[in-house]
Amino acid sequence: MLFPDYRPRRLRKNEVFRALIQETRLSPAQLVYPLFIVPGKNKREEITSMPGVFRVSVDQLKKEAEECLELGVNSVILFGLPEKKDAMGSGAHKKDGIIQTAIRELKRSAPKLLVITDVCLCEYTDHGHCGCIINKEVDNDATLEILARTALSHAQAGVDMIAPSDMMDGRVAEIRATLDENNFESIPIMAYSVKYASAFYGPFREAADCAPQFGDRRSYQMDPANSREALREATLDVDEGADILMVKPAVAYLDIITKLRDEFDLPIAAYHVSGEYAMIKAAAEKGWIDGDRVMEETLLSIKRAGADIIITYFAKDMAKILKRRL
Ligand code: PBG
Repeated sequence: MLFPDYRPRRLRKNEVFRALIQETRLSPAQLVYPLFIVPGKNKREEITSMPGVFRVSVDQLKKEAEECLELGVNSVILFGLPEKKDAMGSGAHKKDGIIQTAIRELKRSAPKLLVITDVCLCEYTDHGHCGCIINKEVDNDATLEILARTALSHAQAGVDMIAPSDMMDGRVAEIRATLDENNFESIPIMAYSVKYASAFYGPFREAADCAPQFGDRRSYQMDPANSREALREATLDVDEGADILMVKPAVAYLDIITKLRDEFDLPIAAYHVSGEYAMIKAAAEKGWIDGDRVMEETLLSIKRAGADIIITYFAKDMAKILKRRL
C-alpha cells in the first residue's frame, strides 16, 4: 500500500507534544488592552454592558499600566471621555485634554508601555458622529484637518502610535503629512482600514458615550455585505502611508482578515470589539458556555485567520491564563 492508514500516535494526547506542533499561538505581547479614561479623580466605574472593564480617571492609570506590564500585555489603546462636547469635537485636540493628559501620565509612570491612541471625533462631538457636520451631513474634508490636529496633539504629548478610527477618506495621508511636518516621522499609523458599520459596537458606545444622536455611521463605515471594498479601503490606506492595517470587528469578519493577510505584507491587526466581548461574558455569566475556553478559542480563530495583533478587552484575562501555563 502506498499510503498506510493514518494512526493516532501515542504522543498526540500529551500536552507537551501538542504545544510542540501547535500552529497558532497567542502571546500577550501581541494583545492590546483598551483603556477608557474619564475626567475626575479616584474614578473606577465598571461598564454595565462590559463586565470586568472599567472607566478610570488619570490618577488610576499607573496601576492599570503596571497590571498590564506585569502580565506581558505591553500595549494599550486609549479612549477618552471629555468634560464637554461640542459640534466640532474641539475637545479632541486640546493640549490638556483628557487623552493628552493620560498620555503624559502613562509615559511618566510607565515608560515601557506602548501607548496607542484612537483618533476619532465621536467621543468629542455633541452629535456623536465621527466627523463635523456641515449641512446636516458629516463633512469629510473639513474633518481631516481636525483629525490631523488631534493626532499632532497626541504626538506632542508623547504617544507611541496613532490609530485613526474615523473612516474619513484621506485621513491617513493628512495625519501622516502633519506628523512628518512636525518631526514626528517615526510615529507609526495603525489605520482602522476596514471598519464595518456594525451593531457589535453597541456596548462601546455606552462606554464612550458616543452613540450618534441622529442617523447612523453608514455613510462612512462599510457595509457588512461587502468584502472587495475592504481591499480597496486597505489599498488606499497603504498608499497613504499606513504602517499597520486593522479589521474591525473581528469574528464576523475573519474572511476579511485572511484576505488582507494574503494581499498585503504589512502587519494586520484585528479589533475584537465590545459586543463580541459582551456576548461571551453574558453567556458565561449565565453558565451557558465556559467563558475562558470560548475566549481562547475566539482569540485563536482571529490569529489563525491571519491577524498579528489583537485589540481585545480580554487581553488581561487571556494573559493570566497564558502565564499560568508557563
Ligand atoms: C470610534 C470607535 C468606535 C469603536 C472604536 N473606535 C465606535 C464606533 O465606530 O462606533 C468601537 C470599539 C468597540 O466596540 O469595542 N469611532
